[in-house]
Amino acid sequence: MTGADDGWLNALIGLLQGAQVALLQALAALGLAGTSHGQPAWPWALKLSGENLLIDLGQARRLVGSLAVVALVVVLLLLAGVWRRARVGALVAVPLMLLAAPWPDARVVWVAATPASFHRSPTGFTVQSIAQGRTLYAQHCVGCHGADGRGQGAWADARSMSPPNLAGPLLWRRADGDLLWHVMRGMRARDGALTMPAFGERLRDDEAWALIDFMKAQAAGETLRVTGIWALPAALPDVAVRCDGQSPRRLASWRGQRVRIVAQDDAPVEPQAPLEDPRLVTVRLAPSAQAVSRDGAGCVVDASEAADAWSVFALVSGTPSPAGTTLIADRDGWLRARSQPGQAGWSDDDLLCRTDTAPRAVQTAVVADGLGALIARMDAQPVRYVKGGFVH
Ligand code: HEC
Repeated sequence: MTGADDGWLNALIGLLQGAQVALLQALAALGLAGTSHGQPAWPWALKLSGENLLIDLGQARRLVGSLAVVALVVVLLLLAGVWRRARVGALVAVPLMLLAAPWPDARVVWVAATPASFHRSPTGFTVQSIAQGRTLYAQHCVGCHGADGRGQGAWADARSMSPPNLAGPLLWRRADGDLLWHVMRGMRARDGALTMPAFGERLRDDEAWALIDFMKAQAAGETLRVTGIWALPAALPDVAVRCDGQSPRRLASWRGQRVRIVAQDDAPVEPQAPLEDPRLVTVRLAPSAQAVSRDGAGCVVDASEAADAWSVFALVSGTPSPAGTTLIADRDGWLRARSQPGQAGWSDDDLLCRTDTAPRAVQTAVVADGLGALIARMDAQPVRYVKGGFVH
């Protein structure tokens, strides 16, 4: 995430990503790209990285300068093509311009790529996929990566290389496709020794994507539990929802509107707060199919997915049970705010995924419209940078 003054950088990274995806699609359309794990394969060992540019603004400026020079050169060459008298001038000017361009450091701009670098996850980050990933993780991965993803699994000590912390920013630094590649093909140390085993023989592609969803959901919950914020943006898991007894629709179909998930277990003791609010789509979540069917008004997570949704929302909110928790997602589908059981109302400090990461110590005075303040702050600070510099 970033402040508004970094808008140009956001645009630059978006341009880099978009241009590379477009190039790959063009190659695939011409039959010049192979396929890998069901999607067009990136044919080169390097790709342009946005992530490093976020760290090194100076290099980002140099890149913008160089791109501007390249654009000018293209214009000059086109001119020279149609207008004879420009040819001599172009012949002199083009090499000079290319020499004078503020080329960025190649090591910053180019990073290692895999054939899957630009693959997109087909799952839609659904509750089902995350729940499937959880089961697979317990079968194949927990021994090394540990129940919380921190790499303290039972086998971890016995190995020459300890597994990395998957509950930190690592998953956000990698492109999804690179994660898929590493899970399916394994990873090697410099000396060629296998560090992370390859699961390509044991897992299907959809299972590896489900594992990636689960690991991200787990990392979001773990960071929230330990640091009190979603330091890295987590998506709102998608799930089937039923409103006023109509046929189910996907939660993601409300993208563009703010969404509030209210988790209530089957025996609410306190009187329930009014759930209707024109500023948000409110969806209730109950722990089991039986608990859902008792009450038909408003929107509820569909009974068929209630139990999975309950445990997935527990996971992303970093609690054993989400009972009494309310989560708010923004118009772009990012989880942004949480209120905990027993909390009286909202304040804009409940925004847990935001640009200014330090919690503000003062400002605890009760605001008349806490939810309004929260929404204003959330809308003013959209999520921008996500991972591998890829912009959403
Ligand atoms: C035998 C121990 C072991 C098992 C089992 C294991 N891992 Fe790993 N994993 C590692 C080690 C060690 C690394 C670090 C490898 C490196 O950086 O060279 C790693 C790295 C990773 C990474 C980071 C990849 C990256 O891009 O840096 C991910 C993601 C991951 N593992 C996921 C999984 C998943 C999913 C499973 C189960 C399907 C799994 N691992 C099973 C040991 C293991």
